[in-house]
Amino acid sequence: MIVKVVGSAAGGGFPQWNCNAPLSNAVRTGKPGFLTRTQSSLAASSDGESWALFNASPDIREQIAANCELHPKPENGLRSTPITTVVLTNADVDHIAGLLSLRERQPLVIYATANVLNTLAHNSIFRVLHPDFVQRRELPVSGITPLEGPEGPVGLSVETFPVPGKVALFLEDETATDGNFGTSDGDTVGVRIGQSGSDGDSTGSLFYIPGCARVTQELKGRLDGARCLLFDGTVFVDSEMSDTGVGEKSGSRMGHLAISGPQGSIRQLADIEIGRRIFVHINNTHPILEPCSDAEKAVTDAGWEVAFDGMELRLD
Ligand code: MLT
Ligand code: MN
Repeated sequence: MIVKVVGSAAGGGFPQWNCNAPLSNAVRTGKPGFLTRTQSSLAASSDGESWALFNASPDIREQIAANCELHPKPENGLRSTPITTVVLTNADVDHIAGLLSLRERQPLVIYATANVLNTLAHNSIFRVLHPDFVQRRELPVSGITPLEGPEGPVGLSVETFPVPGKVALFLEDETATDGNFGTSDGDTVGVRIGQSGSDGDSTGSLFYIPGCARVTQELKGRLDGARCLLFDGTVFVDSEMSDTGVGEKSGSRMGHLAISGPQGSIRQLADIEIGRRIFVHINNTHPILEPCSDAEKAVTDAGWEVAFDGMELRLD
């Protein structure tokens, strides 16, 4: 299985279009060592020919252009794509807006939980993906699903599982009394991606969890022994947005667990076996975006890597 990180940033990307803070400015002006990052998305393939996208970011057009594996093949006629399948892990703007760029009567199969499919169904703009060409299939909140494209199985399967998170920003119910804006199971899932036929064996597969608000015992148990984990790295500290002066929301208010601190993901996942641990979905306020920063040292010393656009992982 080949996996490519096509977008390593959180919503907004890096630089964010309207951000004049030092990190966004540094990358915008080409300061050495700063890498441009597009919004959150992953591509996976069992054969290097057909590809499943995990989340469709607003930057999808640029992401397809930057990854030749995702270009139409000359031998496949005037209109085609190697992208057969799109899996959505939540309904955040940075994960669904790219669907709108996949119109043009191109056959595709979209997979998402009932909650996320419901959001697409209630936003009529997604009808540009005409049902004669684009199928929408439900993923269970918990369970294994062999993935298909318009012409059948693509050689990959996903196991979905619920993770603590928050309903998409534009769906928040301010009046909800649950303390979490009316979030329900199935609003945010993690996925284990493997070759079809790889059953419950987490060693031959990769976990992709771009949004997670808390590390639970259940999640730790699931991840223990994983060969590769791509995990929510949105913020370094919970108060990062206010610390940097760009906003008021904390990481936890956005449904994202900070990397550092006693409750942070580095510490919480430190005592389980994971072959490779990689942060994705990096917000443009994250101090790790600065090369050779203390944050970079803390992360790498703890055995974590930081994904970058175009990062390729091969799992046999
Ligand atoms: C998130 O991950 O919290 C969302 O993508 C924020 C957004 O709407 O951009
Ligand atoms: Mn996001």
